[in-house]
Amino acid sequence: ISESIKQDKFENLSPELREKLIDIENQFNVTSDKLKEITRWFEKELREGLEKDGSNIAMNITWVLGLPSGSEIGEYVTIDLGGTNLRVCLVSLKGQREEIDIKQHSYRIPEEIKTGSARQLWDFIADSLDGFIKSHRLTENRNDRLPLGFCFSYPASQECIDHGILKTWTKGFDIDGVEGENAAAQLRDVLAERNLPLELVALVNDTTGAMIASAYKDPDTIIGAIFGTGCNAAYVENVGSIPKLKTDLPPNTPMAINCEYGAFDNAHRVLPRTKYDVTIDEDSPRPGEQAFEKMSAGLYLGELFRLIALDLHKSGLLFPGQDAAKLSESYSLDTGFLSALENDPLEASQTRLEESLGIKVTLDETRVARRLAEVIATRGARLCSCGVAAICQMKGISSGHVAADGTVANKHPKFKQRWTEALGEILDWPRDRKEDPIILTSAQDGSGIGAAVISAMTLYRIHSGNT
Ligand code: GLC
Repeated sequence: ISESIKQDKFENLSPELREKLIDIENQFNVTSDKLKEITRWFEKELREGLEKDGSNIAMNITWVLGLPSGSEIGEYVTIDLGGTNLRVCLVSLKGQREEIDIKQHSYRIPEEIKTGSARQLWDFIADSLDGFIKSHRLTENRNDRLPLGFCFSYPASQECIDHGILKTWTKGFDIDGVEGENAAAQLRDVLAERNLPLELVALVNDTTGAMIASAYKDPDTIIGAIFGTGCNAAYVENVGSIPKLKTDLPPNTPMAINCEYGAFDNAHRVLPRTKYDVTIDEDSPRPGEQAFEKMSAGLYLGELFRLIALDLHKSGLLFPGQDAAKLSESYSLDTGFLSALENDPLEASQTRLEESLGIKVTLDETRVARRLAEVIATRGARLCSCGVAAICQMKGISSGHVAADGTVANKHPKFKQRWTEALGEILDWPRDRKEDPIILTSAQDGSGIGAAVISAMTLYRIHSGNT
């Protein structure tokens, strides 16, 4: 890449800034060999997670026994506690693969709740559910309780499908009184307290939701992955290949595993961390956790850009003599900003920078900013491919669809191409291939449809006596 800097329209930059840019590019460049090395370590950690509890990558048992048939039916309420919004849906499954009807509402999660108490969190969820039930008149003409699927996208270990002990908050959440506790029971308690006509059927991770929602329509689905605020994936394992699971289920029973691989390499043995990655970790609510996620997920991409730009500004190399106070505000620039910066026409990027930072920005500085955005997003996409490559290598999977959801996958126009290219480098796909054997598809609405389909699968199992 450094060659491109030399050739690009960077001739007006000071030699110091050019040197610095080349240095940053080199630090963020992940070669094919490095990708392969990371993937080998990744596979080792995935295997350890299947072997014993307490491993770095949790490999959580989800109690989702295989993929759906596409014939699942019924009406389900689902909630999705995401990083920014709480989304409540009423999902009607018609049982014909594509036939789904959704009514939904998003409730913005107030900032104080993200660092507040469990009580505030559950009250907020109950209030939102109450409002949704009333506005959609869900209790009219029915006395029974509606089945509820809860998409809880945090690492939770499950003894059964309607249970989930939160190991640790991720993605910047820091709410007191839930870690180490059963989040499903806490939700059930508040539903009972408020007398809400809902029955919690399943607690599901967003990755499992993405995989199941996609498999409802697409039988070629092999993995559900989130490339969004966080970074993680789910796939289907055979019970017999999960040594840590003590169960009476036959060894060939399929079991969805939520990897929780955002925690990969928490021991810092292989990922190419820069000083900016170290700062992000140290300033986060849970230093030392989610090492992989902090280098690749959407929550952190804009922050990486901010830290680098601030560094250059402080050394007098970028926006000299201006008051770039905005650059000192943590998490003030998001992935959408980064993506637009890289993909909009140059002049539009310049205006965006000026508006976001409240300063004057030259065209040359805009070019530098765009290159930084490109370098950060490229590293993120390349690293993201390692997790999926490791699952495929471990399972001997050579083709199929990886159903992806999340803001980075959906909103960054170059993510898919960069991710696929890196996957091909790791898995040694021929350069002149006509088609990619593993394709990134879009898992639309894993948390809503996925949670509903999993609830349907669970109720069917209960009613047919196979609990
Ligand atoms: C974080 C969470 C994980 C989730 C992922 C994507 O890694 O711990 O449960 O799947 O973010 O949202």
